[in-house]
Amino acid sequence: MDEFTRFEGAKSAQYQHLMAQAEAVLKAESHWLPNAANLCAMLKAQFDWLWVGFYWVDEPSQSLVLGPFQGPLACTRIPYNKGVCGRAWAEGRSFIVPNVHEFEGHIACSSLSNSEIVLPCRDANGKIKAVLDIDSRDYNSFDETDAQYLAGLLALIQW
Ligand code: SME
Repeated sequence: MDEFTRFEGAKSAQYQHLMAQAEAVLKAESHWLPNAANLCAMLKAQFDWLWVGFYWVDEPSQSLVLGPFQGPLACTRIPYNKGVCGRAWAEGRSFIVPNVHEFEGHIACSSLSNSEIVLPCRDANGKIKAVLDIDSRDYNSFDETDAQYLAGLLALIQW
C-alpha cells in the first residue's frame, strides 16, 4: 500500500485531503478493526496529535476497552459515564474539551494532554459500538470543523 502523504494547509483542506485517502483505504475493507487502526495512523500522520485512538464498548463489563491507537500508552478500561469517553458513550454525543483540566472527571492517561475531542462511533442501527478519542498537547485544539470532518471519517467504517 502507498505511504500516506501528509498535506500542509488550512485545517479543512487537510481534512479534505485525508478524507480522499481514507475513502480509498477504508472502503477496500469491511472489518472495523483494521479500518479503525488505519484511520488512527492516517490521523496521527496528518495532524501529529499526541494521541489518537478508539475505545470499544464492552457491554458485559459496562466499560470501554482500549482499541487501536497511536501515541503513548493509555488506560485500558474506562467505566460507563466516566471520563470524557465514558460520558460520550453514556450521553450519546460528542465532546469538545478545550481545556481538559477544567473538565470534571477527565481521566488523564498522559500528563501532556491539554485538550481533547471524543466522538461516538455508531453502527447502522445507531447503536454506539466505540468512541474515537483524540488528545492534543495544545489547549483549544478542536472545534466544530474537527467534529464534522471526524464524523465524516467515522462514517466510512462499518461499526
Ligand atoms: N481522557 C480520556 C481518557 C482516555 S485517554 O485520554 C487516551 C477520558 O477522560 O475519557
